Amino acid sequence: MPFSDYKTALVTGASSGIGAAVVERLCREGIKVHAIARSAGALKELAERTGCIAHVIDVTDRAAIADLANRVQFDILVNNAGVDRPKKFLQADEEDIDLLIDVNLRAVLHICRLIVPGMVARDRGHVINISSIAGNYNFGGNSTYHAVKAGVAMLSNQLRIDAFGKRVRVTEICPGRVATDIFNHVHGDDPSVRERFIDGFELPQAADIADAIAFAISAPVAVNIGHMEITPTLQVMGGLQTAKPETSAATYDAEGAKR
Ligand SMILES: NC(=O)c1ccc[n+]([C@@H]2O[C@H](COP(=O)([O-])OP(=O)(O)OC[C@H]3O[C@@H](n4cnc5c(N)ncnc54)[C@H](OP(=O)(O)O)[C@@H]3O)[C@@H](O)[C@H]2O)c1
Repeated sequence: MPFSDYKTALVTGASSGIGAAVVERLCREGIKVHAIARSAGALKELAERTGCIAHVIDVTDRAAIADLANRVQFDILVNNAGVDRPKKFLQADEEDIDLLIDVNLRAVLHICRLIVPGMVARDRGHVINISSIAGNYNFGGNSTYHAVKAGVAMLSNQLRIDAFGKRVRVTEICPGRVATDIFNHVHGDDPSVRERFIDGFELPQAADIADAIAFAISAPVAVNIGHMEITPTLQVMGGLQTAKPETSAATYDAEGAKR
């Protein structure tokens, strides 16, 4: 049985980690894969290794994405490109918030706007959105990252409704910690970063996420795998925190002045 009837794919954030693994896997299955990222060198190496078609494009470059979407009819769209900033929300810079919204959410919305209508018109397509457990659970991360990934989660649910009645599938992939270079991209190249996030942990590899995506794509077209949460076995989300106040609550007089 063939892997899938789909012939073409667009994968964003293809120069490393999960995106590169997805490109590699889909190329192996005979799909013509267009791979997008900003790092020309890594993309060139990926194209030589896998046969993918590399495009050095920033996902926030709407004109470049629109040009590609006009030239190629994509059957599969993998919205994977993503960034994070390590700072907590209370220390966030203006640029941190804009970057996360631009890359992790705004670009995903515009790429879907440019590609999903064609899938609906052709009655054929599969959108894979890589969100995160951060989009579904609260924990001590960067609140902007949680917020934009929650946006991708809701977009995935809503896209199914927008495409309802057509054979357009939408799968949201919610990874927990995966052993990729994202932690160095976020926290810097210091070796202590690997020790903190990767070394000594038993973690899913990027290829494991690519296998899960391949499973969703290769399911019969009548089957939509909507949501996959993929975490390390030795990782759980959630928790309850209860604090005692550091100071007693202020009281105010009838005029609103602090007593
Ligand atoms: N690894 C994890 O633990 C984990 C957990 C949950 C969710 N995720 C999500 O999984 C996705 C992939 O993460 P990863 O772990 O594979 O991270 P990664 O190794 O840092 O890869 C991120 C990819 O996004 C690309 N990218 C970033 N900004 C871009 C832009 N403006 N335009 C085009 N491409 C851009 C990067 O390429 P260039 O820099 O070359 O452009 C790179 O290829 C992300 O959405 C991330 O949020 C990862």
